[in-house]
Amino acid sequence: MRELLRTRTVPIPAGDRHDRPRRLRATPALRELVRETRLHPAQLMAPIFVVSGRGRREEISSLKGHARLSPDLAVAEAERLARLGVGGVLLFGIPDSKHARGEGAADETGPVPETLRRLKSAKLPLALAADVCLCEYTTHGHCGVLDGDRIDNDATLPLLADAAIAYAEAGADVVAPSAMMDGQVAALRAGLDAGGFQSAAIVAYASKHASVLYGPFREAAGSTPGFGDRKSYQMDPANGREAMRELELDAREGADILMVKPAITSLDLLALARQRLDLPLAAYQVSGEAAMIEAAAERGWIDRRGAVLESLTAIARAGANVIVTYFAADAAAWLRETR
Ligand code: PBG
Ligand code: ZN
Repeated sequence: MRELLRTRTVPIPAGDRHDRPRRLRATPALRELVRETRLHPAQLMAPIFVVSGRGRREEISSLKGHARLSPDLAVAEAERLARLGVGGVLLFGIPDSKHARGEGAADETGPVPETLRRLKSAKLPLALAADVCLCEYTTHGHCGVLDGDRIDNDATLPLLADAAIAYAEAGADVVAPSAMMDGQVAALRAGLDAGGFQSAAIVAYASKHASVLYGPFREAAGSTPGFGDRKSYQMDPANGREAMRELELDAREGADILMVKPAITSLDLLALARQRLDLPLAAYQVSGEAAMIEAAAERGWIDRRGAVLESLTAIARAGANVIVTYFAADAAAWLRETR
């Protein structure tokens, strides 16, 4: 022990310099100068849940600070986000009634197309995106149509394409298929092109794990599966090589942006994807990730602002260009005041 202590205090011979990374941490200005990852509000997208009606606002207990909004209030919320410099909104619809085959997803009088039309005419400096899936619209809560108790992949594809076409027609710049059906990106691309919507872009939920972290969202969207789980279509969270395969397939099928989700449990995948693919990468900081931060902050166990900005920074550092986050408004406001 004594010997060890002695060797530790041996003086370093003059002229023998060691590395001193701390030099660049000495002042706020130096740290700012060499910061490798800078978040910007323009790279953030805010999810918005829309319902039918006017002046309708239902707080979502599982998602603090978020509410189901009727189209008029959704536009007001989008105006607030645009003023904060947020880059885009991602719409999720909650219909008045559900059907076995989720036909409501493609209903042009539904809350998503209605909100898109209003947003389009409001001409806000926001990218307008709509999630494309059936789970909010099916009586059974699965992301595809059923054949017995099996999810029928290929029968689902035209229904997803119909929904994407309805959203593009209503004004979506971007459609985001999240059903994890094989071939969904190709089906949407073909449908959009045939419908005259060649310029509607596709953000593919390419690497989507069957995660417990979607729980609060399903409460918000009323999309919890009525039986079974989503493991026959969403990926096993244990698989990373399979995630790369999904990303490459979606790139080949014509995706314009590739998304990975959840975010914080997929940082390795973002880093790998950043090296292998040159498409823009998005990450979705999902409802459960937000809930963990909110719950800990509420108990005073964690600093909310610090946790939000640190997690978003890590997601960007790993390789995400675009981040979908429930904290978009707060983060944008904080980023503006700290610069
Ligand atoms: C619909 C969809 C889900 C999410 C995004 N699109 C739910 C699911 O797959 O069960 C999750 C978003 C979140 O948890 O914030 N398929
Ligand atoms: Zn779904």
